[in-house]
Amino acid sequence: MQTEPSKQKYEQCLRDFLTQLQAIHIDQLERKWITLSLLVIGLFVGIITIDAFFHGVNPPSKVETIDSASLHLNKEFAEDNLGVQVDDKGAIIIRMVAGRYSFFPKHIDVPAETPLTFRWVSMDVLHGVHIPMTNMSTMIVPGYVAEINTTFPKPGEYPVLCNEFCGLGHNHMWSNISVIAKEDWTAPVKSPVKGGSNNE
Ligand code: CUA
Repeated sequence: MQTEPSKQKYEQCLRDFLTQLQAIHIDQLERKWITLSLLVIGLFVGIITIDAFFHGVNPPSKVETIDSASLHLNKEFAEDNLGVQVDDKGAIIIRMVAGRYSFFPKHIDVPAETPLTFRWVSMDVLHGVHIPMTNMSTMIVPGYVAEINTTFPKPGEYPVLCNEFCGLGHNHMWSNISVIAKEDWTAPVKSPVKGGSNNE
């Protein structure tokens, strides 16, 4: 009943707006700059869209939830399963827990020039993780799993730093990763965990 008149009202409003917009005098030079800035915005939005849909680039947390309060009872992030593991398909997966004020396990060995998948969870508050010289920089939000794929370019000692303020010990929250040459690295002997629900 009310839709017809209100639709007409909106259309009238829009027409008025467009008439007023056309009546505004915009200098030729200004018009050029407006066009240029709109094109730049369009270019950036286009790049983000292409990356998101075709290259699969998305925020590190894949909105995979987990109960931070019961990580020790959780299949995947139980103490025995932390660290480096090689799954059935030969992919290297590293599971680490962040807690005030360290990353667990404190130290791991991984091969250089090899794709690695890191899965991080927090046992208490918001932490961050940054590893210089890699693309690794993400927040570790309690309640979510942060997953990152990365490759270490060359062997060496890499620091693992917390980059979100998490309390008085924040500046002492760091660990390190030893990256060793691909041919010298051997997979740790552990029974691989099967994927499964984290929310049991
Ligand atoms: Cu953990 Cu700052």
